[in-house]
Amino acid sequence: MEKKNIDWGNLGFGYVQTDYRFVSDFKNGSWDEGKLTEDATVVINECAGVLQYAQTVFEGMKAYTTEDGRIVTFRPDLNAERMENSAKRLEMPVFPKDRFIQAVVDTVKANAAYVPPFGSGATLYIRPYMFGTNPVIGVKPADEYQFRVFTTPVGPYFKGGVKPLTIRVTDFDRAAPHGTGHIKAGLNYAMSMHAIMDAHRQGYDENMYLDAATRTKVEETGGANFLFVTKDGKVVTPKSDSILPSITRRSLIYVAQHCLGLEAEEREVTLEEVKDFAECGLCGTAAVISPVGKIVDHGKEICFPSGMTEMGPVTKKLYEALTGIQMGRLEAPEGWLQ
Ligand code: COI
Repeated sequence: MEKKNIDWGNLGFGYVQTDYRFVSDFKNGSWDEGKLTEDATVVINECAGVLQYAQTVFEGMKAYTTEDGRIVTFRPDLNAERMENSAKRLEMPVFPKDRFIQAVVDTVKANAAYVPPFGSGATLYIRPYMFGTNPVIGVKPADEYQFRVFTTPVGPYFKGGVKPLTIRVTDFDRAAPHGTGHIKAGLNYAMSMHAIMDAHRQGYDENMYLDAATRTKVEETGGANFLFVTKDGKVVTPKSDSILPSITRRSLIYVAQHCLGLEAEEREVTLEEVKDFAECGLCGTAAVISPVGKIVDHGKEICFPSGMTEMGPVTKKLYEALTGIQMGRLEAPEGWLQ
């Protein structure tokens, strides 16, 4: 199969329209069998639930070309499960796990010409999503939904590749206790737009959100989870009911413990203790692991000794191990590659 003529090495994290997407409709209580289509447009009623009350959930995952030329996805079962949780929280129907995985596989196969080659530094980003389509004017869930999967070839999420990021501690809150911070819903990202633009205007790459109840504990950035390394080499990542349970983060904890022989734990992390860590990174499907060089808390700078110019040594080991598994260079734990 001939690859598309794309400058893979210079791709940013943007939308490039690919040839096929998967579409399935939910009506009268059930999903139709769905199909691949070349039509990239969505036509819905002006009063559709998604347009009025933001009833939409999504996932982010990637397909990789391995060293030996296979095309693989990474732990798609976990994306299916997370989307199920997201859908339930917004009173939306569940798109069954086996069908979710099949739809992802079919969409990637149909767009194989867009899967960046091994070694190009790019990947095929996969975006499954679902939204309420029928008119809803009273505040209630839609009765009809559409599930779609599209793909787009992408490069690094953050401009500048592995240049360490500067993050500010924001006064905006991302998620309320018992709210929706733990699901992947468009509403969590809509509310972050102002905080992101405000951070950019002030010269920061991203925001660090704190827990809304006490404003003392580290949560996430909105687009990625935090990962810290202690001075004695232990990997620590914040535990909270209101952050998105990143699949990359769960995989990194496993990789740290089982492949790298490191200690790793998910626990509450206070803002106060951040200055004591040796390394900091952001992790997620889009971010992979992006090093953080500096966190600024209302003018007070916290600099990570090894992260100001490049990735810290433990962060780098984690990055190499994770991407090594995803690209087929290292043996993947059972069931991780599809
Ligand atoms: C992902 O990492 O896949 C996400 O969905 C995060 C988004 C901000 C791009």
